[in-house]
Amino acid sequence: MPLFGGATVTGINFDNAASTPPLTRVRDVVNRFSDLYSSVHRGTGYKSRLSTEAYEQSRDLVAKFLGVDEKDQVVIFVKGTTDALNRIAAEEARLDGRQVLVTEMEHHADLLPWRHRSGHVMVGLSDEGHIDLDAIEQALKEAGGKISLVALCGASNVTGFVSPIHEVAELAHRYGARISVDAAQLAPHHRIEVRPADDPGHLDFVSLSGHKMYAPYGAGVLVAPRDFFAGAPEVMGGGAISIVTWDDTVWADLPDREEAGSPNVIGAVALGVAIETLRELGFDEMLDYELALGRRMLEGLSRIERVSVLGGVEPCTAAGRLALAGFVVDGMHHGMVASALSHEWGIAVRHGCFCANPYVFHLLHMSRDDVDAVEGEVNAGRRKALPGAVRASLAPYNTEAEVDRFLEAVAHIARGRIKASYEQAADGTFAPSGGWPRIPSPLHAVVKR
Ligand SMILES: Cc1ncc(COP(=O)(O)O)c(C=O)c1O
Repeated sequence: MPLFGGATVTGINFDNAASTPPLTRVRDVVNRFSDLYSSVHRGTGYKSRLSTEAYEQSRDLVAKFLGVDEKDQVVIFVKGTTDALNRIAAEEARLDGRQVLVTEMEHHADLLPWRHRSGHVMVGLSDEGHIDLDAIEQALKEAGGKISLVALCGASNVTGFVSPIHEVAELAHRYGARISVDAAQLAPHHRIEVRPADDPGHLDFVSLSGHKMYAPYGAGVLVAPRDFFAGAPEVMGGGAISIVTWDDTVWADLPDREEAGSPNVIGAVALGVAIETLRELGFDEMLDYELALGRRMLEGLSRIERVSVLGGVEPCTAAGRLALAGFVVDGMHHGMVASALSHEWGIAVRHGCFCANPYVFHLLHMSRDDVDAVEGEVNAGRRKALPGAVRASLAPYNTEAEVDRFLEAVAHIARGRIKASYEQAADGTFAPSGGWPRIPSPLHAVVKR
């Protein structure tokens, strides 16, 4: 990566919660498979038959990975977690008068579809930003059977806190609701088990994204109960039907009826290879390694003056947290810290509210009046007013040396030792005065001037 001052360094990627690079094996299989790729399901050619087999084999790998019993549940290939959650919400919206219970911790993908389609009840969290089981139970009780679904993230993309998904599932089932787990952040790090339907802690819906688990080729997964889908599917088109006459439509069986249009075969195959590779590497071993790095990072951050970690540094156990830290530097804009980390140290992080505004407002201890004031500023076009934090999120390919370099960088920045000058744009982001070093896009080699 080019740095301020002209030097070049090997970059450090601490932005894995946003997206991950492909595993080498995933990339190699995708490259080889590209020569054999063709349309799936209806083609009789050799490549079509081979592609269909690979696509369905990936579905089986996903089912095996999550412990799905395909009699009760179905594995549907979708674009990603956002797509999966919106599809659940579209079906939920048809259940008149029923509501979805969400927590204040949710990513906007696990909040807005419910808010704007089916209606929701939002429950609060503990002060430090942990799931509050009592509050969830109370809300379920008060709703008197009106809540049909509890929507919860498996792990937060802001604090890395891991949710007690099976305990929440038990509560949901006790009060006649189902549970939907947004596993975008959990699936790359933890072995998730949906468990059999007669287990009170079983998971009804699981959504995940391939690009967050080393298969960034545009496919994700929705696991859902087979009996959930009734009436016409939300997305309609080719492949989803048994027969269409001049005035009648007969929908196909699952999963086809929920996969209208030409599916992303390469993405699904990439996801299957990634899952199989992670299983071979061993989730427990990877998590142990990641958490050792995570602890080093959290403890290191807590020792730097003017730095505070959102939600605190505890717990840092496998059951409690991912190797992820959201943090603020007192008196310094989060965008400034992130830009200096990139421009002066070659370290990639993310900053802002991480598509989880209510949770970040909670963690920053903002009152309703504070938030109203910010909303007013943003409505007036002044996005600079948006508060936020910096997030460093680790993966098993990161190293201790990288964590130490990151801590050194944050310590320098927090002491005000910033070499370049930066300017804040109207959208709140910071760029070096004079602009970022030019980045050669791979398209430059293709596009003729
Ligand atoms: C917790 C959580 N849920 C949902 C999403 C949305 O995932 P995607 O953008 O892959 O649809 C994200 C993405 O950052 C996330 O972190």
